[in-house]
Amino acid sequence: MRSLTIQPLTEAHLPAAADLVCARYAALRRVVPPLPACSAEPRTLLPRLHDMAQRAAGAVALHNGRLVGFLLAYHLERLRGRRGVFSPEWANGVDPAVDASVHAALYAHMAHQWVAAGYGLHGLSLFANDSAANEAWHWLGFGLAVADGVRDLTPLVTPPSPLTIRRATFADLPQLVELDGALHHHLMAAPIFLPLDPSGDHTALADELADPTYAFWTAWERDEVVAFMKFGSASINTCAVVYDPGTTSITGAFTKTVWRGQGVAATLLARGLAWARAAGYTRCAVDFEPMNTPAARFWQTHFRLVCLSHLRSIDLC
Ligand SMILES: CC(C)(COP(=O)(O)OP(=O)(O)OC[C@H]1O[C@@H](n2cnc3c(N)ncnc32)[C@H](O)[C@@H]1OP(=O)(O)O)[C@@H](O)C(=O)NCCC(=O)NCCS
Repeated sequence: MRSLTIQPLTEAHLPAAADLVCARYAALRRVVPPLPACSAEPRTLLPRLHDMAQRAAGAVALHNGRLVGFLLAYHLERLRGRRGVFSPEWANGVDPAVDASVHAALYAHMAHQWVAAGYGLHGLSLFANDSAANEAWHWLGFGLAVADGVRDLTPLVTPPSPLTIRRATFADLPQLVELDGALHHHLMAAPIFLPLDPSGDHTALADELADPTYAFWTAWERDEVVAFMKFGSASINTCAVVYDPGTTSITGAFTKTVWRGQGVAATLLARGLAWARAAGYTRCAVDFEPMNTPAARFWQTHFRLVCLSHLRSIDLC
C-alpha cells in the first residue's frame, strides 16, 4: 500500500486508536445486539489504552498521516506457562477500508521487539465479525485458541426433562466434586490440553458453592447428579468487551457421558437464563476452546461469537 508507514505508537495516537476500535466494535454490535454499549465509548477505552501504552511499546500504521491501524500488547511473564505478549481485542485493529496487509506490517514491526526481549508466545484477540483480520493473522502463523460468545436472556424453550433440575446447595459439594474433577480432566486431556493445576484442588468449587452470586444448575437422576452448569457475575477470563455488570458468565458445564446428546445441557442453560433474568442480568457470556468439539458446537448453537483469540508459539532456541 503506497504512503503507508509503520511507526512507534505515542500517546498522541491514542484518541485515533480508540476511535478505530469503537467504530469496529459498533459494527460488531450491529450484528450482535446483546453486547454492552459502554465498551464502544472512547471514554471507556482511552484510559485503558493510556495505561497499556505506558507499560509497553506499540506500533501504528499511518496512511497519508491518518491512523489506519495499531497494535499494543501486554507483556506477561506467564502466558500459558511461558513469557508471552497478549493484545486484547480493544488494543489492536486495522481500518476495514484499507488493505489487510497492514496487519502483517504491524506484526512484523512488533514481533521483532517481542522476540528480541524474550517473549516467544504471541497472542491476540480479534472481533469475530472481522473476517479479514482473522484471516490475516491466520496467515501470520496464528491458530485459534479460545472463542467468546454472548446471547440475550430470551427464554429458551426445551422439551420436558426426565431429570430433576434444581439449583445446587453447599450440601451437594461431594457430588459436584466428582463432576468438577471430570471436567478438569476433560480440559487437560487430548485434544484440548489446557495447562490446568493437575492437583485437582476443589477449594475454589467449595468457595463458589458457598457464594450466593454463583448459581450451579444441576440435573439429577434420583440422588445422582448427572450434569451441572455454573453461572456467576462477569468472568475476568472472558474477552473484555463483554465484561460488564449486566453480564452473567458461564464458567463450567459438564454432562456425564451416558446422558450427552439428550438435551440436558440445553435444559440447564434454559434454567440458568431464567435465573439470570430474575437476578437482573441482561446478557449471558461463555468462553470455550474451539478444539473441544462437542462443547464448541453446543455453545455456537446457543450463543453468537464475539471474539476469537489466537496464539503463535515461536521457538526461541
Ligand atoms: C458440552 C456438553 C456440556 C453438552 O452437554 P449435553 O448435555 O450433551 O448437551 P445437549 O444434549 O443439550 O446438546 C448437545 C447436542 O445434542 C443434541 N440433542 C439434544 N437433545 C437431543 C435429542 N433428544 N436427540 C438428538 N440430539 C439431541 C443437541 O441438538 C446438541 O447438538 P449441537 O451441539 O449440535 O447443538 C457436554 O458435551 C460435555 O459435558 N462435554 C465435556 C465437558 C465440556 O467440554 N464442558 C464445556 C467446557 S467449555
